[in-house]
Amino acid sequence: MKVLVLNGSPAGKDSITLFTVRYIEQFFPDCTFDVLHVGQYIKKMERDFSDCAAALQSADLILFSYPVYTFLVPAQLHRFVELMKESGIDFSNTYATQISTSKHFYDMTAHRFLEQNCYDLGLRYLEGLSADMDDLLREKGQKEALDFFSYVRWQVEHGLYMPAPKRTTPAPSVPLKQVSAQPVADKKPGKIVIVTDSGTDEAQNAPLAAMIDRFASLLPYESEIVDLQQFPFKGGCIGCFSCASTGKCFYKDGFDDYLRTHIQSADAIVYAYTIKDHSMGYRMKLYDDRQFCNGHRTVTMGKPVGYIVHGDLAKEDNLRLVMEARAEVGGNHLAAIATDEQDPDAALESLALRLTYALDHRYEQPQNFYGVGGLKIFRDLIYQMQGLMKADHKFYKEHGFYDFPQKKKGRIVGMYAVGALMGSETLRKKAGGKMTEGMTLPYRKVLERVAGKTKTEK
Ligand SMILES: Cc1cc2nc3c(=O)[nH]c(=O)nc-3n(C[C@H](O)[C@H](O)[C@H](O)COP(=O)(O)O)c2cc1C
Repeated sequence: MKVLVLNGSPAGKDSITLFTVRYIEQFFPDCTFDVLHVGQYIKKMERDFSDCAAALQSADLILFSYPVYTFLVPAQLHRFVELMKESGIDFSNTYATQISTSKHFYDMTAHRFLEQNCYDLGLRYLEGLSADMDDLLREKGQKEALDFFSYVRWQVEHGLYMPAPKRTTPAPSVPLKQVSAQPVADKKPGKIVIVTDSGTDEAQNAPLAAMIDRFASLLPYESEIVDLQQFPFKGGCIGCFSCASTGKCFYKDGFDDYLRTHIQSADAIVYAYTIKDHSMGYRMKLYDDRQFCNGHRTVTMGKPVGYIVHGDLAKEDNLRLVMEARAEVGGNHLAAIATDEQDPDAALESLALRLTYALDHRYEQPQNFYGVGGLKIFRDLIYQMQGLMKADHKFYKEHGFYDFPQKKKGRIVGMYAVGALMGSETLRKKAGGKMTEGMTLPYRKVLERVAGKTKTEK
């Protein structure tokens, strides 16, 4: 079996993920493994795709090997997927799967993104392996990698692959109410930054540019557009971690300063993009990856965000999840995602009004699983890596992120007491049905306190 490995890691041959592939290779001498270093040489591949095209055409199995980068795959691999689509190659007899390494922080959205694109390309998709970056160092992880590839090979030999999920027609949505849809003439002072990659290609980006203009006119606050097409990015994040200790990016294109002074200083941030290949497109993803210079610090915490999206978002559950989860983890209230699927004017007005409410009332939506779960992964990671990620560690200490359960000694002891009570039949009988009453006592006290307070106020 001819395996073509698309190494999406900017670390090239030093990619941790690629080590897993190399490990597998040792145990399957009947398979050939050729590697394209997509993450490292994407600019060269953009200029001339012919060698890549030849390699893609002769492969039996395409193996995407990459690190998870900011909920998805590295920007360089996004670009390669674009090039694969543009090549027009017929992939109908080719199998594809994926191996990623990460800390499992939103690894599933990255996998889903590639899966969706494999189906677009007509590839025969096989479920991938999402490994922790340390898995290969342990026997269990090594076995999982080999078992995974044995299963992949068995499926290829038997002509089996995952059927593409049928796209369900989205349920009709309740029409949005238009409040006034009148442009606001007297803007309140403030700084709302609209980050977009709408760029200069007018024909292609006209719908998004029109949505941005309309939104800015409906917003009661002053706003400013940051067009990423104009920013002289030297390249995508290369995962070198030099920013981890210095806070400065390896590239000297001034992006980290620009990000801090122009974008993160805003009162609210609105992102505007056109859906491309089930994501926000290469340029916007490059911007996301380069924000790694902030480390794992939620530096815009408390600031509301919004999205303006041109395209069929109703068919993009994974992308919607990425937007919601990013806001959740960042501690940003997501005011709304305005799309042009149904009634763009009403959607844009709704975003403008909701964002204004959040700003005026300092409203923050409490976190759900996306935020709570995501931050627990970061908490554990930064605590372990505090020696390297000093700025992150300081930030986490200052903001009380280190809420380890083992520190809650009182609660642990309390639960031992409850456990002992429940373990003894005599005590259980004595307590009778008082268990629920006991559990709800603190909640009842809150109500009593507030009832007393509101009575006095009256
Ligand atoms: C820019 C950047 C973004 C990252 N984003 C994520 C992420 O969203 N989730 C995660 O679990 N790990 C994330 N990581 C960690 C990498 O996935 C992890 O270090 C990976 O094992 C590196 O693999 P590689 O050596 O093959 O590049 C990120 C690392 C970088 C540099």
